[in-house]
Amino acid sequence: MIPDSKNPIGIFDSGVGGLTVFKEVKKVLPNESLIYLGDTARVPYGTKSAAVVTKYSLTNVNLLLSMGAKAVVVACNTASSAAVSYLEKVFPNCMIIGVIEPVVEYLLHHSEFKKIAVIGTNTTIASEAYQNALKRGSADLEIVAKGCPLFVPLVEEGLFSSKITELTVDMYLSEIKRKKPDALILGCTHYPMLKEIISDYFGGSVQIFDTGYFTAKKLAAVLAGKHAENTSPRVDDDSFFVTDDADSFCRTAELFLGYRIFNVSRV
Ligand code: DGL
Repeated sequence: MIPDSKNPIGIFDSGVGGLTVFKEVKKVLPNESLIYLGDTARVPYGTKSAAVVTKYSLTNVNLLLSMGAKAVVVACNTASSAAVSYLEKVFPNCMIIGVIEPVVEYLLHHSEFKKIAVIGTNTTIASEAYQNALKRGSADLEIVAKGCPLFVPLVEEGLFSSKITELTVDMYLSEIKRKKPDALILGCTHYPMLKEIISDYFGGSVQIFDTGYFTAKKLAAVLAGKHAENTSPRVDDDSFFVTDDADSFCRTAELFLGYRIFNVSRV
C-alpha cells in the first residue's frame, strides 16, 4: 500500500532529545509536516530495561499512527537499540526509521576511522547495538563504548555549558580521551546539545558524529523509495505532543530549536 504523501511524519523520543533529529528532518525534508511526541512522563528511557522501553515505544508508535503518521522516526537511541526490529515486525506496513543504522553505515563507508568511541545511555551501551553493528561491518575496528547516564538530565534541564556539566564530561570521557579515538558517536539524541562542551574537552582532536542528519537522509531515501515524499510546499503546521506538563517541554524545546513553539498538547 502506498501511504498518502500528504500525511505527516511521526517522530518520538523520551523527551526533548529527539528535537535534534526533528531539526535535521525539517532541513532535509522541508515539505513534510511533522508530529513530535516527547514521552516526558516516562523520561529517562536510558535507565530502564529494554523490555520496558519496547513497551513504551509500542504505545508511542500506535499513538503516532492514530494521528495519521505515514512514517515513524524513532528519534531515540535507547528505543532504537531496544525496539526497532520488534516495531518493524509489529508494523510491517509502516516505515520505521531508527537512529543507529544510518550513522553506522556512514562510518563504515569511511575507512579512515579505525578507532571509534560511542557514548549513550546505559541501556543503549549495554544493548551493544552500536558495537555489534560496527563490528559486523568491519571486524578490525577498535570500539570504545561508555554509558553517560547523567548527560540526559543535564540536557533536560538546559545545562549545556555549566560547571557541573564540565565536571560530568570529564568524569565520563577522560578514559575515552586517553584512548584517542578517531571518531566519537553521540549515541543519544540529547547529546548534540553537549557537542560544543565535548568538542572543547577533546581539544578538537576527534570527529564528532550525531545521529540526526544521517537519520534524516535515510528517512528521505526511504520515503523516496516508496514514492511517499510530500512534493508540494506546505504551511508551517508541525505539532508537538507530550505525556506530561507542556510548559517545561516548551522552555527546553526553545533552547533546542532556537524558536518558541506554541502548539504543544498533552496526551
Ligand atoms: N534521547 C534518548 C536517546 O537517544 C533517550 C534518553 C533517555 O530518555 O534516557 O537514547
